[in-house]
Amino acid sequence: MTDGVQGRYGPLGGILVIIPTYNEALNLESIVSRVRTAVPAADVLVVDDNSPDGTGKLADELSAGDGHVHVLHRAGKEGLGAAYLAGFGWGLEQGYGVLVEMDADGSHRPEELPRLLTALKGADLVLGSRWVPGGRVVNWPRSREFISRGGSAYSRIWLGLHLRDVTGGYRAFRRETLEGIGLGNIASQGYCFQVDLARRVVEAGYHVVEVPITFVERERGDSKMSKDIFAEAAWRVPAWGVRSRMGRILGRRHT
Ligand code: GDD
Ligand code: MN
Repeated sequence: MTDGVQGRYGPLGGILVIIPTYNEALNLESIVSRVRTAVPAADVLVVDDNSPDGTGKLADELSAGDGHVHVLHRAGKEGLGAAYLAGFGWGLEQGYGVLVEMDADGSHRPEELPRLLTALKGADLVLGSRWVPGGRVVNWPRSREFISRGGSAYSRIWLGLHLRDVTGGYRAFRRETLEGIGLGNIASQGYCFQVDLARRVVEAGYHVVEVPITFVERERGDSKMSKDIFAEAAWRVPAWGVRSRMGRILGRRHT
């Protein structure tokens, strides 16, 4: 384990906030300007999957007016996982020291980012967490809260994780953490991508800190949560759990 050792964490380095988008034209301008105000030193990377509503074009316009804003255009909708992998790849190549995940719809409040970054000074990964004391969710129906809490519990049990919010998507990684887990063989596409990253980081022995956040449900546009995303998580999570236990029993390395 690598936790708790005083002084092992170097300075944070340049910050990149990665915002994946699919049909977020109604939200993009607001979220980008809130990030720029909350953490003026941070750059923003919008990763758009050729949104039919013109989000990509809007992102280009924002980028033209602000040198801190960058855009990655992808050919079509391939899921949150693929979008983040492309964003991480770009950010690591550009030399950023911190890579942040943030939704475009305002659920992850940029005003809370300084707190996540402060925590990252003593951690390898910081999770914005709805399910630790002080964390909360605003405007979610009971059904959605049930799915999210259930998803975290399901992941905790199958994977033996001690984290409270395993599926959340407001996170700050040190670049060394992403480099250390290796991003080459990640196949998860939907929201279980978040579970996949969390378990890889924990299994690699990194120090993860959960910071309470207030998650505010979107007011504009639609959630991309779907039956397919749910189903993918339902089978992948147990598959990882079984593989990891088999690997331990057989003494082999697993992925
Ligand atoms: N580029 C790209 N491609 N972006 C996508 C895709 C995709 O296929 N699917 C979703 N996104 C973007 C959305 O545009 C948004 O910015 C962000 O990913 C999250 O999508 P939402 O549709 O707003 O997610 P949610 O509110 O239902 O779910 C939230 O909670 C989940 C469960 O805790 C998110 O925080 C998820 O990351 C989280 O797993
Ligand atoms: Mn959302």
